[in-house]
Parts: sequence; C-alpha cells; structure tokens
Amino acid sequence: MEATKLLVLTPRVTILEEIRKVFLGYDVVIDHAEDHIQAVSLLAKYPYQGMILEESLPGVSGIEFSKRIKKKLKNLIVLLLIAEKEIRRGKQAIQSLFVDHVIVYPWRMEKARSALHGIFPARPLVMPKEETEPDERYVLQEDDTEDHLDPDVVKVVIKGIEDLPPLPDVVRKILRLVDDAGAGAKDLAKIITSEPSLTAKVLKITNSSFYGLKQQVTTISHAVVILGFNEVKNLVLGYSIFSNIIGGKGRENQEELDFWRHNIACGVAARALGMRMGYQNPEELFVVGLLHDIGKTVFRNYFTERYQEVLAESGREHHSLFHEERKLLGLTHADVGYWLARHWNLPPLVRDGIRFHHTPALAKKSASSFAPKLVPLVFYADIFSKLLGIGNGGDAFIPDVIQAEFFEAIGFRNISELCETVVSQVKLFEQSLGIFHEDRWKQDTLSRIKQRRFFIIDDCEGISPLEVILGIRGVPYKRLPFSKDVFLDMLSRDTDVLVLNLKDDAFYGKFIERLLFENPTPPPVIAFTQAPKLSDRGRRITYLRKPFNVEELWGELEQITSSETA
Ligand SMILES: [Fe+2]
Ligand SMILES: [Fe+2]
Repeated sequence: MEATKLLVLTPRVTILEEIRKVFLGYDVVIDHAEDHIQAVSLLAKYPYQGMILEESLPGVSGIEFSKRIKKKLKNLIVLLLIAEKEIRRGKQAIQSLFVDHVIVYPWRMEKARSALHGIFPARPLVMPKEETEPDERYVLQEDDTEDHLDPDVVKVVIKGIEDLPPLPDVVRKILRLVDDAGAGAKDLAKIITSEPSLTAKVLKITNSSFYGLKQQVTTISHAVVILGFNEVKNLVLGYSIFSNIIGGKGRENQEELDFWRHNIACGVAARALGMRMGYQNPEELFVVGLLHDIGKTVFRNYFTERYQEVLAESGREHHSLFHEERKLLGLTHADVGYWLARHWNLPPLVRDGIRFHHTPALAKKSASSFAPKLVPLVFYADIFSKLLGIGNGGDAFIPDVIQAEFFEAIGFRNISELCETVVSQVKLFEQSLGIFHEDRWKQDTLSRIKQRRFFIIDDCEGISPLEVILGIRGVPYKRLPFSKDVFLDMLSRDTDVLVLNLKDDAFYGKFIERLLFENPTPPPVIAFTQAPKLSDRGRRITYLRKPFNVEELWGELEQITSSETA
C-alpha cells in the first residue's frame, strides 16, 4: 500500500505543523504550498489523494480555488478550514460539491485528529498502537496496592548497590566525552588505552568476525578510524557495563548466562533493525538492547523472594513478567532499569529505551527526540530474540497481536534474512566474549518440525502471529481463511498439523471439537484460547493459552513430531 499523499495549502506554518503532528507515525506524505500558484504546480506534478486548504488565502478564496481544481481533479478529496463565523458558506460549498469536507479552524487538536484520520485514512508506520499492547490493559484492583514495593525504597537500594558498581571509571569518562562537543577520536582512544585490559578486549572484538573487517586492526586509534567514533564508544560502553554486571559470578550459572544471551540477542537485533530502517547510529540501539532488561537483575538480586513470587505467578497466570510485576510489585523492571540508568547517568536514549521497551507508544514522553522512532525497534528486537529462542529473558510471551504493519514494513520475506543476520551476529559476538553456547533449540528437532506441513486457520486480520512464529524459523505453512467448510476439508484430508487461532473461544466448544471427535483419524490440532481449556491428547487436540508463549508452542511441536516418529 502506498503512502497517503496530501497537499496542505496555507500561508500559516502553525496549521501545517498541526497537521503534520496529527499524522505523525502514519504513512502520510505531506506537501506544503504557501499560495494557490504553488499549489497548482504541485497538483499538476503529483497524484495527491487530498488537499487541505484555508478559506482565506492570499489573492483567492479557498472555495473559489477548490471550484477550479475540482473541475480537473474530480477524485481529489478537498477539506476546507474555515472560521467559525463563516461556517454557512462552507456548508453551501459542500452542497455545491466544490469541497468535500469543512472543519472550523482554530480547532481542538483531539477533534482535528479524529476528523482528519476519518477523512484521510492512513496506514500506521512502525510505531505500535497503544490499544494493542496487552500489558497496558492491566487495571489495578483496589487491594492490589497494599503489598506493593515502595518505589523510594527501591531507589535507595539502587543507590546503595555496590556490586552493581556506580559504573566503571572508563565508562564515566566516555559519557562525559559524549557531552563534550569538541571531543574527538583522539580523546576516546586515549581513555581506552589508559586501561590495558579494555584495550585488548576492544581490539579482540574489533578483529573478530563480528565486524568482518578485511584488515588486521592493531591500535585503538585505528579501530576508531575504521569503525567510527560512535561504534567504538558504544562497544566500550556495552562491553564495560556488561562485563561489570555479569562479572565473574554469572558465567557458571546457566540461568544467568541465558539471561544475558537474551539481552545480547536483543541488542544485536535492535542494531540490525536500526540499520535496516536506515538509522544513522544503529550502535546506540545495541547498548539499549544489551541493557533493556537490567531491572530484572535488581529484582532478582535484591528482592529475591518477592521476585520468586512474580516468576511463579507469571507461570500460573500465564502472563508476562512485566504484567505480573505491575500487579504484584507495583513497579516493573522497566521502571527499575530506568532508575538504574539514571543513577549511572546514561544518555537519554538509553534511559528511555529501557524505560519504555514494553510500552513503546509512551516513548513520545522521552527527552530524546529519537526515542519515539527507536524505542519500538527495541520492543520488536525483544520479541525477535524470543521468537528466535536465543537465551531466556525470564518469560517467552509475545503480544497477542504482533504488529502486522511492522512486519509488512520490513517486508515479510526480508524477515528470515534478518533472522539469519541476527543469529550469526549473536554467535560472533558471544564467541568474542567467550560465552557462546549452541542453540538450546537442537537443529534436528527443528528439521524434523520442518518436514511437516502446517495449516494455520486464523480469523485475525493481517499477518497472523502464528505465521511470524513459524515463518521466522523457516517452517513451511499455509494460512487458510476461517470457515466451517475449510475446517471440514482440513479434517478430511491428510493434514499434517492444524494450528487454530480464533478470536472466539466458543467456536472450539461449539462444533470444532465435535467434528474432530467424529473423525476417526484426525490430524493433530493445536488451538489457542483466551481461557484455560483442558487438552485431550488422546484425541490429539492441544489447547494453549494466549498470550502466545513461544517456548510452549515449540515444546508442543517437538512433542507432536517426536511421538509420531517414535
Ligand atoms: Fe523486558
Ligand atoms: Fe527482554
């Protein structure tokens, strides 16, 4: 679908700015003409869907101008902005079909927003919509708050945390350098070389195949020249913070290691997405991804018992940790991570990337003007790392509604390419840190699953989350529309595996189960439901609860394919 193209004809920049604001985050191209002469030449050149113009223009009335234009461009939707006292003229213009819509200006922004979106429907860009974030829907119950952690106490704990050091010296120096506009590559190299172990590490990572350089880099200043100031800066920040936190203690502990692998995967994926989207400093996203879940470390290490409850409840209630933290603690790892980042004086984008990584639509509150565009990439990178099953961030839930627009924006076909990049870069980065582990997902399991044919019946619009989950790992599937006939047809055929995701749970009970039970040799069926429902493995129907849990689904697929080959 192409972008909606609009022409705004007004000499007033404020009007233009307001219209731009209304369509921020939507696939809309807005051109501006200051007067009708400019407008005519633009209209002759480009195919606009709509024109928004003021009634009072220099040298001509808006209605008069529309009348002329409409003769030639009948399909152009014309919206006239008119002063309250002239509204009658506007209505007459509508009746004589010179204009299609009239709005009183000055307007109230909310009113303008709903009116403009109604008149000129546009596709949302990458930015996820607030109403589709399931975690945002949680409403506090009255007695929920009694047991919550006191935010002030948590903040004091953060200040007092000693084994999460106030940040290594070198990091603080580098951050100061970032604020200093006059600082350059030489200053950065000087700071790094003052620490021999860090120097060695940076050179090792620079020369690792992570960057795929053709030449051997032997000095830090050379590394800065080749990789760029920002890349080296973020590499050092990421590495120093990472190695300080994981320290020596986490390395033997599989759980801790899996946790950091999740963060690395998120960082690598965020960086890859940033590059794909043409962002200038994708390496900043790497740091955000690396630290996005750092708040969980504080919970786990300093509020251990309470966090055990959260983990257990998340499993029992089948809700994400973020959701359960909010319910049981009144604070989330995103809040705590943000406080920690603030305590460490990390740059605004990093702080807010951590703060809003589960609620990217709120990133517009950020002090960093890049945040509204970049935080969604971290949100998706987090989902990506869960979908790819690299490491373990504590839960494997992904939102009910994967933002179809996002996957369409990247191009669904490009996703598998992107996944390959992410998987191989994670491997290289982990190898350079000496923590690489073979994927928990054994290749033979995956290739066994890939031998099956999957039929997805999903009544959601756009791309189904199931398509993404299966598609991202290269599992072949066919998606069918939902209808009784299609379903019957599937059951009568030698269908390999049938995966159902229907909005209405009642369908399963009403007739699907009956039809399935009447069939002597039904195919294995996996059905996603809102409410918990008992599986009947004898009859080969498994119910999994929403939100989608990637691990659960793969576990089920593994079981189906292994029991049948056995
Ligand atoms: Fe998180
Ligand atoms: Fe995460």
